[in-house]
Amino acid sequence: MLVNNRKMLLDAKENHYAIPHFNINNLEWTKYILEEMESLKKPLILGVSEGAIQYMGGYKVVSHLVKGLMEDLNITIPVCLHLDHGTSFESCKEAIESGFTSVMIDASQKNLEENIEITKQVVEYAHLKGVTVEAEVGHIGGSKDHLISTNTNAQLEECIHFVRKTGIDSLAPALGSVHGLYHGKPNLDFKTMKEISGMLDIPLVLHGGTGIPNDQIREAITCGINKININTELQIAWYHEVKKFIEKNDSYDPRKIIGSGEDAIKEKVREKTEMFMNR
Ligand code: 13P
Repeated sequence: MLVNNRKMLLDAKENHYAIPHFNINNLEWTKYILEEMESLKKPLILGVSEGAIQYMGGYKVVSHLVKGLMEDLNITIPVCLHLDHGTSFESCKEAIESGFTSVMIDASQKNLEENIEITKQVVEYAHLKGVTVEAEVGHIGGSKDHLISTNTNAQLEECIHFVRKTGIDSLAPALGSVHGLYHGKPNLDFKTMKEISGMLDIPLVLHGGTGIPNDQIREAITCGINKININTELQIAWYHEVKKFIEKNDSYDPRKIIGSGEDAIKEKVREKTEMFMNR
């Protein structure tokens, strides 16, 4: 069933685990993730960036694709279809009107008050439609949708102020994680993470899940993280297998080429889900 993420994230907060958010890029990606999560019988958040939406053909294409796959594959687990890093009110509205059940409004490169204003507008609209809203405070840097930016860490007081003013359902505070690959070991601010989580009654989200070692993931969950976003790691796992396949085979059938990465994606999905949820 397509659902918003309120119930699943609150359960994760109450019971100290994290729900996996996997980004999708195409039909195959979506199918593999849905199949693997169905076999694990765990709730799932499918994240889609604006770039991926554009690549796949539009908001409605993505929404119909996910709904169609869920119906034809008899998916019974709760699935949340989430706009990842929506950059404007209009983008969030379009996602909601197209059937997305959750949106992230990312106005994190604006100043705090502007971020609050845009986020409030999205929350008002989304909540009327039963859609949950995530937002970002500070700025999570790195590389996403081919854009590179640098990190600005979130402060405890601004997070509290932001959540009170906006009424969001989950918060992604920038605390040292980055999108894409890390240069060196990730340096997460667990102390502030724990303080923010202790002061708020909504779940926290960790972006840039790729490349964070397992012990740091466990520590993040202990400090109040209840949703972890993974994108690059699935892409890399898929890429290595497809590269091997192309080097070894002379096939030009796209189903065989793209499909050669299926097991690698499914293994990663299983490994991450088990680590985030069965601690
Ligand atoms: P990675 O690409 O680093 O896994 O980050 C994913 C993410 O945070 C999507 O919002």
